[in-house]
Formats: sequence, C-alpha cells, structure tokens
Amino acid sequence: MLKTDLSSDQLLSIIFDYMAKISSETSLDRVLVLMANMGREMIVADRCTVWLIDEVNQELFTTVAHGVKEIRIPVGSGVVGHAIATGEPIIIEDAYADPRHNSDNDKKSGYVTKSMITIPFRNNDGNIIGAYQAINKLTAAETFTTKDMELLSLAASYAGKSLESVMLHQEIIDTQREIISTMGEIGELRSKETGNHVRRVAEYSYALALGLGMSEREADVLRTVSPMHDIGKVAIPDSVLNKPGKLTDEEYDTIKSHTKIGHQLLRGSRRELLLAASIVAEQHHEKWDGSGYPKGLRGEEIHIYGRITAVADVFDALSAERVYKPAWPLDRIEKLFREERGRHFDPAIVDVFFDLLPQLVEIRDRLSDDI
Ligand code: C2E
Ligand code: SIN
Ligand code: SIN
Ligand code: FE
Ligand code: FE
Repeated sequence: MLKTDLSSDQLLSIIFDYMAKISSETSLDRVLVLMANMGREMIVADRCTVWLIDEVNQELFTTVAHGVKEIRIPVGSGVVGHAIATGEPIIIEDAYADPRHNSDNDKKSGYVTKSMITIPFRNNDGNIIGAYQAINKLTAAETFTTKDMELLSLAASYAGKSLESVMLHQEIIDTQREIISTMGEIGELRSKETGNHVRRVAEYSYALALGLGMSEREADVLRTVSPMHDIGKVAIPDSVLNKPGKLTDEEYDTIKSHTKIGHQLLRGSRRELLLAASIVAEQHHEKWDGSGYPKGLRGEEIHIYGRITAVADVFDALSAERVYKPAWPLDRIEKLFREERGRHFDPAIVDVFFDLLPQLVEIRDRLSDDI
C-alpha cells in the first residue's frame, strides 16, 4: 500500500518522541533500533539500518535491521562502504543497476532492494562512525529525494551523539569484563585449586542469587564477579597455598590476607563490575555471626554478594578434593550447612541452598574436574 510523505508537524512530533527515548537509553542495541525506527518513519522507507564500523575486524556491521539479523560486510564494500569511505551521502533509484551495491544479503534473504539512501554520520570529533541506510521508499514516487537526505542527516546528527556515549558505555563494560575474566584466569593458574572451581562458584552464585529473588541483571553481575573471590591468592606463596595438610597459625594468617589483598587489587574503581568484584574478594570469608575475616562484619553488614559467594565457595571447597583434604560426601556437606545456618551463613541463603540443591549438584557434575 502506498504511503505519503509526512507533514512538518508529523515530522517534528516523531523527532521529539524519538529523541526523548534515545537520550535516556543505555543499551546499544536498543539505541540502534530506535534510530532505525526513527529514520524509517521520518522518510517513509520500508527498512532502515544503522551501520557501525568495527575497526578491529575492519568490518561494517549492523546489530539490528528491520526484518534482518546482524549483518557484517568488509569495510569499503557495498554502497554503505562507499558512503563511509567518501563521507558523501548516496541516493540510488535502482540498487541492482548500481555496481556498488552488494546484493549478497538480498540473495540470502529473498528481499528485493530497489531505492536506497545512505548517509554517513559523524561523532562529536567529526570522525565518521557509521551510516544510516534506508531502503525502498513507500510513496508513489518510489525514490528518495534530497529532502529525505536532509531529514536523515538531521536525525543522524541528533542521534550520533547519544550513540557515541552509549558505545563508550558499552566499551567500558566490555573492558571491565575482560579485565575480570583475565584476572580470574591468572588466579586459577596460581592455585592448584582445580580449573573449574571459579566457574562452578560463578554458576552456584548465579543460581542462589536468582533463588533469593534478585533481578536477572544483579544476578548476572554477581556471576561475572564471583570468579574473582580468591584473586588475592596470587600474592600468597606456593609453599603455603599448596601445603598438604594442616597449616600453622602463622601460615593460616598469611592465607587469610588474600581477602585484603584482593580488595586492594580491585578497589579504587567506581566502575560497577570492578567495585562488585572488590566487595566479593574482601567479604567472602566474613561470617553471619561476626566470627569471620578480615573485618568480622556480621549479618547484613556483609554485602549480599559476599554472603552468597561464601555459600557457593564453601559448597565447592567441600565438594572437591584439596591438597589439604579429601572431597566430602554430600550428606556430610548438608550436615555442615544445617549446623552453620545462622552461624557461618545467612539463614535465608541456606534455605535457598537446600531448595536448589539438586540444581547445584547438577552444576557441580556438569562442570566437574574429572576428564
Ligand atoms: P578454600 O580451600 O577455597 O576453602 C574455602 C572455605 O571453605 C574455607 O575458608 C572454609 O570455610 C571452607 N572449608 C574448606 N575446607 C574445609 C574443611 O575441611 N572443613 C570445614 N569446616 N570447612 C572447610 P577458610 O577456612 O577461611 O580457608 C581459606 C583458604 O585457606 C582455603 O580456601 C584454602 O586455600 C586455605 N586453607 C584453609 N585450611 C587449609 C589447610 O589446612 N591447608 C592448606 N594448605 N590450606 C588451607
Ligand atoms: C547490504 O545490505 O548488504 C549492503 C547494501 C549496500 O550498501 O550495498
Ligand atoms: C560507569 O562506571 O559509570 C559505567 C560502567 C558501569 O555501569 O559500571
Ligand atoms: Fe577465599
Ligand atoms: Fe575459593
């Protein structure tokens, strides 16, 4: 069905609506969807795509497109590649008649691209960071006009700024995840504790957090950071850490310092993930009754992430063989958690622990260390 171009009033209301939504959005995927929807509505196109540049892989990609999943093409290819390379907008009446068009995606999807408008857009520093691409004009004229080009450029210049800040935010989060997983791996290398320990603790913590009614997002933060709980052990000498059998009091004090060391390694960041990791590293040996270390915090003075990781860590330590102890059978582990409910551990978390025990055992078996 043919449509007509929008009146200036309609255009203004679309721009105001979308700009309000885009400026309050923090997820890159959702900003891209909003930008695509805005572009499509403004110039009455069938589809609209926002392309970004992946510098590392020298590709152009779009995470969302109307009716299309993520697409990746080499930098410089397609109409979009030309627009980005030259910095000039391109309007095309018939894509198949244009040698620059890359029709591979149409071939895969069965979609027929005819008219097309492609506009590069820039960040605050004036560098091109991507392009808007609208496909198939839905009005009787069937082609895009210079008016459409101006409108889409306007949308791009408004949205480009929000897009950049969201991309930076995403980059910060990705960087934190990388730092955390790298540090977790370093911790693993140092300790004879078996390789899957940190992964199991992550999964137990996640299951317990959800079982306690925490949001998916918070539970996911905990899952990301709980593998870091023993990172401070990197500073403990092998001779102590891997000593078979009982520790002297002095050696035990040395090991206990892994909580303070871990906290020191990670503190000083206001980044959400690193901050959460430093809390877990510091507090995972605190006990509900105040008899733990390093600070002797009690009850809810201990961060919920610390209380959950404590349950997950001890469950895993008891389940596994250590240089200093054999693996415990499940009934003995259950007995300890019953006895320590309200002493070592938060009673509410122990209750969830018993509710979820079959699931935790399933995780344990799935991520077991025997090959
Ligand atoms: P880990 O091996 O990861 O153990 C974590 C926690 O699980 C322990 O914290 C403790 O709360 C619990 N746990 C582990 N094994 C047992 C056990 O046999 N009985 C009971 N009741 N609880 C157990 P904790 O005690 O603060 O120890 C912290 C870390 O110190 C341990 O981490 C381990 O690396 C080291 N460690 C503790 N005891 C010994 C030991 O006798 N020999 C050696 N070589 N290291 C030890
Ligand atoms: C594509 O849809 O794969 C890119 C189209 C083009 O810019 O040629
Ligand atoms: C920030 O640190 O403000 C951004 C990353 C995060 O949400 O922690
Ligand atoms: Fe520890
Ligand atoms: Fe541990």
